[in-house]
Amino acid sequence: MSKRILFVDDEVSVLKAYKRVLQHRGCQWDLVFCERATEVWERVQTESIDVVVSDVDMPGMTGLDLLEKMQGEPVTRDIPFIIVTGRGETGLKSRALDMGAVDLLLKPVDSNELMARVYSALRLKQYSDELKAQKESLDQQVRRRTQELANSRLEIVWRLAKAAECRDDDTGTHVLRVGTYSRLVAEAMGLGSQHCETLLLAATLHDIGKIGIPDAVLRKPGKLSDHEWHTMQQHCEIGWCILAESGPAPMCLTTGIYDWSPADQVRNPLLRMGADIALSHHERWDGMGYPHGLSQDQIPVPARIVAITDVYDALRSERPYKAAYTVDHSLQIIKRSGGTHFDPDVLLAFLSAFDDIQEAEFEYSQYLSQVPAGATGSAELDPVQLHTANLL
Ligand SMILES: [Fe+2]
Repeated sequence: MSKRILFVDDEVSVLKAYKRVLQHRGCQWDLVFCERATEVWERVQTESIDVVVSDVDMPGMTGLDLLEKMQGEPVTRDIPFIIVTGRGETGLKSRALDMGAVDLLLKPVDSNELMARVYSALRLKQYSDELKAQKESLDQQVRRRTQELANSRLEIVWRLAKAAECRDDDTGTHVLRVGTYSRLVAEAMGLGSQHCETLLLAATLHDIGKIGIPDAVLRKPGKLSDHEWHTMQQHCEIGWCILAESGPAPMCLTTGIYDWSPADQVRNPLLRMGADIALSHHERWDGMGYPHGLSQDQIPVPARIVAITDVYDALRSERPYKAAYTVDHSLQIIKRSGGTHFDPDVLLAFLSAFDDIQEAEFEYSQYLSQVPAGATGSAELDPVQLHTANLL
């Protein structure tokens, strides 16, 4: 495609001289001539122009005004701008160069010099275009790789959560729903988008510690003895050990050297939040929960959120020992637990997000109904697809 060079001068004779000289030189450029800088300003914003050669003194918008405008807009900033002026205007060259002009020509313009300066400006434009294309290509690669990493993280975290979940619930979807609902509640609380996004994944890991609970306890159909119940409660601390502690999880429980404070020392924000949730999602607002009887502000906020979403989804789900409760019945139980089991403020956020939670619940059920008959468990679920569908 031939290069487009735009000339602007309020004197028609000057424009005609440019045309004559350049045609005489047999140049192959597409030449555009304008008598007003305002017309140039409109054209450079919408047309592909490779170089602007501009007079300085023009009625209305001057050459320097035009230069200033073009420098102020990303779309026109990189079009090389050559100033043409009469002799004797001292200081103009440095002023124009300071403002972003690439060169300055003196009137009357010498044809050799004009050609040389325009060629030089075109080379500059070409380098600039190549750099821009290279940058755009790199940006695209970074965006693609970032998305791939995010998808891979999503899938790994979900599969880790499912590893624990499949020991007592073969659907693996409880953890996904808890993640989705928790994010909705966090959004309703006005927490930052990064925080909400981290919570989405961290919440799915809330029961990761169940990996360390013996089958005889975890899968026992009947009522647990006191000792078994104590063992079951350890899934919180085991989960914390898995996510926050670099040593083996059982060691973590036997050494007793941990103060179980929030996992501030864990650098990875996802693991840090996941550890806090795993440890404290069965704590209660009134201090009657487990494993450490924390109350109110002692309980990390993400754990207070998961406390509600976990219970809500458990109420709404069928279990070996109970049928799924209706929405109304589940909501009734949740509401009357505000201020005792649950943080009243988190409960308010849960209620304000409830329409979205119900919508997500419906979408999940629709999605699951599309899983081919005979598929076992959650084998056909694709967390990346769920995320794309705004469920995860
Ligand atoms: Fe749990």
